Formats: sequence, C-alpha cells, structure tokens
Amino acid sequence: MALILILGASRGLGRALTEAYLGQGHRVIATVRRAEDMAALQALGAEVLRLDLADPASVSGLAWQLDGESIDIALYVAGVWDGQAAGVPPTQQQFDAVMHSNVLGFMQALPQIAPMVQAAGGVVAAFSSEMSLLAQADESAWLYRVSKAALNMAVASACEQWPGLTLLALDPGWTQTEMGGSAAPVPLGDSVQGLMRVLAGAVPEDRGSLLRYDGTKIRFFTS
Ligand SMILES: NC(=O)c1ccc[n+]([C@@H]2O[C@H](COP(=O)([O-])OP(=O)(O)OC[C@H]3O[C@@H](n4cnc5c(N)ncnc54)[C@H](OP(=O)(O)O)[C@@H]3O)[C@@H](O)[C@H]2O)c1
Repeated sequence: MALILILGASRGLGRALTEAYLGQGHRVIATVRRAEDMAALQALGAEVLRLDLADPASVSGLAWQLDGESIDIALYVAGVWDGQAAGVPPTQQQFDAVMHSNVLGFMQALPQIAPMVQAAGGVVAAFSSEMSLLAQADESAWLYRVSKAALNMAVASACEQWPGLTLLALDPGWTQTEMGGSAAPVPLGDSVQGLMRVLAGAVPEDRGSLLRYDGTKIRFFTS
C-alpha cells in the first residue's frame, strides 16, 4: 500500500484520483480548502486536510501536518482557469488569483513535502498543461498559459535541489471536468487511468519532464 498525497481534491481530477487510488487499496491524504468539502472525501476513505494553496499562512503548516509521513506520490492538482484572450490585461486580482493557486502554492508546498517524498524514493508531480508550451502558444487563455509556463519552470529549476526526487509535470489532457467543460474530448476516467499508469511507470530519468496522460513525454531540459 502506497501513500498518495493529493493537493486540491475537492472536485475534478483531484477528487477522481483520490477515489481511484483508494479503490486500488492505497492510503490517500487529500486536501480541500473548504470545510464543507471534507465529508465527501472522508466518506470515500481519504484522510482529509484543509489547505488553501493560495494562502501562504495555510500552506506554511503543511509539513507539520504531514510530520513523520513517507509519501510515495505527491500530486499538486490545484489550479484555476482564466480564459481571457492575449492582449486583454488581467486585473491585479485576476493575476493574483491565478498565479497564487497555480504557481505560488506549488513553490511554497514543494519544499515542505519534497523531503518526505525524497526519503520514500517517490514522485512529486505538478499538474501543468500543453497550453504551457511556448511552441503551442496562441492568443487564448493568456494568463492561464503564463501561469502554467511558470509552473513548468518552477518544476525544472527545482530538480537539482532534491537529487533523489522524481520531480515532474503532468498534462491530464483536455478533460471533462468543471474546468475542461463537457465538450472536452477526454473522459475523466480515461485521464485518471492514464495519469495513474504514467505515475506508476515514472522513473528518475523523467525528472524535469512534462508527461502526458497518454504516456508521451516532453523534456524541459537536456542535462
Ligand atoms: N480539465 C482539463 O482539461 C485540464 C487540462 C490541462 C490541465 N489541467 C489542470 O489539471 C488540474 C485539475 O484540473 P480540473 O480539470 O480538475 O479542474 P477543476 O475541476 O476546476 O478543479 C480544480 C481544483 O483545484 C482546486 N483549487 C484551486 N485553487 C485552489 C487553492 N488555492 N487551494 C486549494 N485547492 C484549489 C479546486 O478547489 P475548490 O473546489 O476549492 O475551488 C478544485 O478541487 C488543474 O491544475 C488544471 O489546470 C486541467
């Protein structure tokens, strides 16, 4: 039985992954930011912590809450969408909301959880997107793209800091969730099964890569 930590599990991919890992008999610690979202995950069998990843005071207690745990897989799933086109300036409030949940939260959570995952020889994965890639830039969702590109850099830059840690980014595909919408081509179950397969097969050489749910891989750096 492995221990899986899922940061951002109230709904969508985080919740579905919680359910799927529990279904395989693993232990799951799942985090949500609202108290009213705790019971549903607890009913599934998850251990639930309250954590607002956009709030540094909330994130600062994470290592303490996880003290003594040996974590096999830690997933930074939390993310928010902003679909404004390029050229439409985000307000400071929009910028802060997206960057805090999508980037700051990861940069503050990683140093707290990395030692516990490294000790277990495990994997830390941040949920990014193909929309983060410079080669695929277009005018849609300007701020979201910028935030996920920054998240990729946060992953790539941190790899040397924890040499024994398999630190990578994941792309779940355009998936049917609240964020992806009902017209998304990838059913939630397919994305979850694919991500779990990819994570089960992740090796240290995958550090600093973006792994897609279908197994394709993009290296962020060549070293
Ligand atoms: N669905 C797609 O097509 C797609 C494609 C590529 C990448 N992704 C990425 O995959 C991840 C999951 O997406 P999804 O489709 O499951 O999105 P979703 O259905 O909109 O769910 C987003 C999740 O993130 C949580 N979250 C956001 N900000 C948070 C914060 N500050 N603290 C704690 N939790 C926070 C939400 O919690 P609340 O309920 O409290 O808001 C919710 O559980 C995201 O990072 C997203 O960018 C999704």
